[in-house]
Amino acid sequence: MVYRASAVWLSLVLSLSAPPTLARTIGPRDKVPEGFYAAPYYPTPHGGWLDSWKDAYAKAHALVSRMTLAEKTNITSGVGIFMGMPCVGNTGSADRLSFPQLCLQDSALGVASADNVTAFPPGITTGATWDKALMYARGVAIGREFRGKGANVHLGPSVGPIGRKPLGGRNWEGFGADPVLQAKAAALHIKGVQEQGVIATVKHLIGNEQEMFRMYNPFQPGYSANIDDRTLHELYLWPFAEAVHAGVGAVMTAYNAVNGSASSQNSYLINGLLKDELGFQGMVMSDWLSHISGVGSALAGLDLNMPGDTNVPLFGFSLWQYELTRSVLNGSVPLDRLNDMATRVVAAWYKMRQDKDFPRPNFSSNTRDRNGLLYPAAIFSPIGQVNWFVNVQEDHYKIARQVAQDAITLLKNDGSLLPLTGSGKITVFGTGAQVNPAGPNACLNRACNKGTLGMGWGSGVADYPYFDDPITAIRKRVPDVEFHNSDEFPLFFTGEAPAPDDVAVVFISSDAGENSFTVENNHGDRDADKLAAWHGGDGLVKKVADKFPNVVVVAHTVGPLILEPWIDHPSVKAVLFAHLPGQEAGESLAGVLFGDVSPSGHLPYSITRAETDYPDSIAKLKGFTLGQVQDTYSEGLYIDYRWLNKRSIKPRFAFGHGLSYTTFAFTNATIRAVTAPLDPIPPPRPSKLPTPSYPTDLPAASEAYYPDGFKPIWRYLYSWLPKSEADAAWAIGATGKQKYAYPDGYSTTQKPGPAAGGGEGGHPALWDVAWEVDVTKKTTGGVGGPGGLPRFFPGPARASVQAYVQYPPGIPYDTPPVQLRDFEKTPPLAPGESQTVTLRLTRKDVSVWDVELQNWVVPGATLGGGGKGPGRYTIWIGEASDQLFLACYTDTGKCEQGLEPPV
Ligand SMILES: *[C@@H]1O[C@H](CO)[C@@H](O)[C@H](O)[C@H]1NC(C)=O
Ligand SMILES: *[C@@H]1O[C@H](CO)[C@@H](O)[C@H](O)[C@H]1NC(C)=O
Ligand SMILES: *[C@@H]1O[C@H](CO)[C@@H](O)[C@H](O)[C@H]1NC(C)=O
Ligand SMILES: *[C@@H]1O[C@H](CO)[C@@H](O)[C@H](O)[C@H]1NC(C)=O
Ligand SMILES: *[C@@H]1O[C@H](CO)[C@@H](O)[C@H](O)[C@H]1NC(C)=O
Ligand SMILES: *[C@@H]1O[C@H](CO)[C@@H](O)[C@H](O)[C@H]1NC(C)=O
Repeated sequence: MVYRASAVWLSLVLSLSAPPTLARTIGPRDKVPEGFYAAPYYPTPHGGWLDSWKDAYAKAHALVSRMTLAEKTNITSGVGIFMGMPCVGNTGSADRLSFPQLCLQDSALGVASADNVTAFPPGITTGATWDKALMYARGVAIGREFRGKGANVHLGPSVGPIGRKPLGGRNWEGFGADPVLQAKAAALHIKGVQEQGVIATVKHLIGNEQEMFRMYNPFQPGYSANIDDRTLHELYLWPFAEAVHAGVGAVMTAYNAVNGSASSQNSYLINGLLKDELGFQGMVMSDWLSHISGVGSALAGLDLNMPGDTNVPLFGFSLWQYELTRSVLNGSVPLDRLNDMATRVVAAWYKMRQDKDFPRPNFSSNTRDRNGLLYPAAIFSPIGQVNWFVNVQEDHYKIARQVAQDAITLLKNDGSLLPLTGSGKITVFGTGAQVNPAGPNACLNRACNKGTLGMGWGSGVADYPYFDDPITAIRKRVPDVEFHNSDEFPLFFTGEAPAPDDVAVVFISSDAGENSFTVENNHGDRDADKLAAWHGGDGLVKKVADKFPNVVVVAHTVGPLILEPWIDHPSVKAVLFAHLPGQEAGESLAGVLFGDVSPSGHLPYSITRAETDYPDSIAKLKGFTLGQVQDTYSEGLYIDYRWLNKRSIKPRFAFGHGLSYTTFAFTNATIRAVTAPLDPIPPPRPSKLPTPSYPTDLPAASEAYYPDGFKPIWRYLYSWLPKSEADAAWAIGATGKQKYAYPDGYSTTQKPGPAAGGGEGGHPALWDVAWEVDVTKKTTGGVGGPGGLPRFFPGPARASVQAYVQYPPGIPYDTPPVQLRDFEKTPPLAPGESQTVTLRLTRKDVSVWDVELQNWVVPGATLGGGGKGPGRYTIWIGEASDQLFLACYTDTGKCEQGLEPPV
């Protein structure tokens, strides 16, 4: 969601130019490629069948039992864009029962459109830390800020897109191009946020891997992500499963379709995969204005309609609210479904303890002024106080800075150019060294790339309270700095000829964001600049390198870049990926440049030598076609390093790569079976606990009547109907004869649920730890410096430990050569110091999704275990996906060192 007050009137004009009749449901489904289909899955499993949600459901049941029809349809929808409360989404309330309006607020990196908040580094930067403790700490801090501002629902984390397409616009909001990195980061984030009593929302379900053509509009359906079942389970759904396992309270569907059926009304996706197999107990919301059917989406499992309007907003039309009231009265949507929707919304609220002392929103997304329009979208709106300027930052800048710093990834450091001593002269090039001169928030939704790039653009942003830029931090440490605040190399370079020790630091960047804005011809995705540095950055690096003997390149980037134009230039000795640092861009970088700390970030994606190292399905964005754009995941499981390894394509820098100022060695690896040997499939699933039950009699039409004398505000969305309409709908419903054209496969009989389900995230046994590996990491210190001089980094350094699984040979499933399964990071280690870490592989980590069995299978395991393990799984341990010299074997229980890496 992207609009703000300043955009209200613009979008109003836009929407007025489209006749309201176009705000219709898209017609018959477009054709998807052979073999892909969206199977029917009905009914929506009732929420409340898991013990972990039992109390919340009991309370919700009690409250919803007392609600009228119009109250239930009120709390399951927003009241309209820019209406009422000041958040990007505001639901209706049931005031009579003290159930409040809920404030839903962007973004995944901090409270959007608000003052006195922290602008944290985004997901991709957090992923690059490979640090679980920081992932959690950042979640805690973000949760506290949402709570402090009175936002009930945090619209994050983002794990979809996963980063399948390097050019994809919103990859930077998530944690990296690997399901396990995304999953663990998201789960820790959710835990941190929800412990503060704020409902987290994992998004976007699913297949939102590019921005262009994602949205349904009156003229064209959103693209269809065509994903086969195994790929969906093993890659794209994996982080969602882990989020559900962590107890996430809300899920947001994507704009695009999956297998031809819009995500907001894909019954197989929502009812089947999310609610039955993954056992999701919370509420499913539509992304803003993505809802395109009324009855269909209700039956398919949508619970919350956001922000309330049809997909052409601001006419006062909704597909739910009063229409959902009508659909229940006329018998098309079973009351049972509405009861479940309302119960899920209320249960999520109780689960996060929001019935106790949750602050009301005290900020406005629409204005920074103290007073503003109370109903910005209304023609005549009262004015009142909307901002209370509550400062929620506490000391969160410390966490923001720590994330920014620990993410900084050293890709290259020839002759130990870094850390800089700070004694010689430093010449800095590039506009990316300094904050945008017009101010860090000068561009609406950060939709420009001016000055240091701290985050991408779109709805996934927050306003900077201040911006600590690199040039300021560098100047604090070095007296002699010459700064060329330009992306052009000076035509007449007047400086003295650089001395052999002189260092140049060049800042380059690459930006991306949401499709609602186009920046320098990039339509959200990086369709114009591709994987080259913006503003001619690659040319600038080359020119500086031709002149200066020692060049450090610092990249602020949303994702991978092609570095080939200059990476082998002998003067380009050091390269740092600082990712997107958020507000703390300066000190975090200077600390690494000048050796206060050693860099410890690792790449959350691969950097290839050419875009064509990936197949077209990954490397290319889908362009315009008439009808529905088809995005078919023909590469299957093989994205990022999985593809490169399978094809033996050497990347320039591998997934997980990251150097340090010191070196580390692994010692003393041991492996032990915990729950292994394993049966090939999990034991029979636990059955569902009873769920709340309600009377199913058709509600009285009077429950839907407008209150006497009520004067509606135009564009505000109400759940009431005029008496005549309510009576007419009731008359249809009262016949008991269904006239609605239900989809094929429609049913109202609750099912026991699939074998692969049974707990939050899937079958509980999937989280049984099968094996544990202990390994000790030790700093081994000094590396050679310039001129062969030894140069010893005396400070403490943190090390990453990554565990990749290789499946047994000869199994009847094609599996990627190695796949990340766990990771840990050591605390700062002094020279010679060591630390033991434990890595864990669960049953799911050693399983494959069997499409025939519809279950997770441990290949090679024999039924009954019988002491016979599932064959030789090799657990590779290393500090990058291509630095795997140590392996532990599940069959012998032994570990070996000094091996050839498997890839
Ligand atoms: C998409 O189609 C595939 C068949 O190729 C099927 O296995 C999968 O379950 C479908 N996914 C959804 C969400 O409908
Ligand atoms: C729906 O919510 C709005 C906003 O809180 C409220 O004014 C209205 O009374 C609610 N309607 C019902 C039926 O409770
Ligand atoms: C804003 O939130 C604070 C707590 O963070 C709370 O004390 C205050 O009452 C809220 N302001 C309003 C207007 O609700
Ligand atoms: C009931 O109302 C809904 C919403 O207006 C409509 O889509 C549906 O066709 C109606 N069903 C009947 C049987 O009239
Ligand atoms: C932060 O809050 C203070 C009041 O505590 C206010 O004076 C200031 O303007 C706010 N900052 C911003 C950026 O709005
Ligand atoms: C490795 O294990 C041996 C034997 O238990 C022990 O003496 C040694 O200190 C360990 N090394 C490290 C670095 O922990």
